[in-house]
Amino acid sequence: MRKLLLLSALFIAASASADNKPIRSGELWPDTDGRHINAHGGGIMKLGNTYYWFGEHKADTTSSAMVGVTCYASEDLTTWRNCGVALSVSDEPGSEIERGCVLERPKVIYNKVTGKFCMWFHLELKGRGYSAARYGVAVGNRPEGPYRFLYSQRANPGIYPVEFGEKELAVVDTLDGEHFKEWWTLTWREAIKEGLFLKRDFGTGQMARDMTLYVDDDGKAYHIFSSEDNLTLHIAELAPDFLHHSGRYTRVAPGGQNEAPAIFKKDGTYWMITSGCTGWAPNEARMFSAPSIWGPWTQHPTPCVGPKAEITFEGQSTFILPVGDQFIFMADIWRPRHPSDARYIWLPITFEDGKPVVRWQDVWSFDQFNKK
Ligand code: GAL
Repeated sequence: MRKLLLLSALFIAASASADNKPIRSGELWPDTDGRHINAHGGGIMKLGNTYYWFGEHKADTTSSAMVGVTCYASEDLTTWRNCGVALSVSDEPGSEIERGCVLERPKVIYNKVTGKFCMWFHLELKGRGYSAARYGVAVGNRPEGPYRFLYSQRANPGIYPVEFGEKELAVVDTLDGEHFKEWWTLTWREAIKEGLFLKRDFGTGQMARDMTLYVDDDGKAYHIFSSEDNLTLHIAELAPDFLHHSGRYTRVAPGGQNEAPAIFKKDGTYWMITSGCTGWAPNEARMFSAPSIWGPWTQHPTPCVGPKAEITFEGQSTFILPVGDQFIFMADIWRPRHPSDARYIWLPITFEDGKPVVRWQDVWSFDQFNKK
């Protein structure tokens, strides 16, 4: 009898770990067809028991969007099936999402009220480098798509951030771009903090590049993106349909040059991990915390620990995935000369002295996670 109990305990342990295949950051990650997952700069949405991973399809020789946004599905977070292209680029000449545009960091959130799946991404118009600095929005009726492109534009035209009261607006009024032609001087930095570029882009709308989406416990959603020539992050509240901005937004770390924002909340504190601005080359991650999404945001040292922690293990943050009551830090190891060979970093976030820590592990598994 004891032997039987032992055997069945062993069997249960074995089957529990069967779906917990090891996660090996930086290595190839084959989908159920045996092909390396192609969903970069991505994010994950959970619906029922299924996780949907959305990301940029990367081609072999160009970082431009030749296919669109891909979607993979999984119940266990380790075995992923390819659900195909969720949002396809267009072959219509002049389309805002024409094949060959730059379409990066797509994220999808579900709107419980409308029943729609809402996709936001960073969009650069074909042939115009990174000058458009727009966000794009698409909508779908099913998680895996197809998604229909709705529009792209710059953010919050004609609106200053919520923290700009009479005093701040009076200062903005005095800022004159003509006086700040030279970048990186002390007075230029001060003017940036005071809103020099906010004022410059007030009419057309604020630049919107690297981005993520976040749905809070109260059902409100936010678009978090690099703005003002990648100098300042904006957190913009979404309208109830999750397809537009509400017009309320705040700035984080003005002039701090943060990209690649990823956010989570634990015990009422918001934590955000970002990178510096060095293109495809990795740099040291930054971390911020705030008691409210509206701030104030406080900067902390990098959460990364281990070999190459000072360059985020050669990666750049893209998303933080809640799993049960724990969190996974997701990052991309870019390969700009062979974009489709870019790799993924997934590492559990632990808490030490009340602060998130991302510790490098060559291999780990979800064994200790309750995925409910
Ligand atoms: C990175 C950014 C990527 C991509 C790249 C292009 O800084 O995080 O998403 O835009 O620059 O150089």
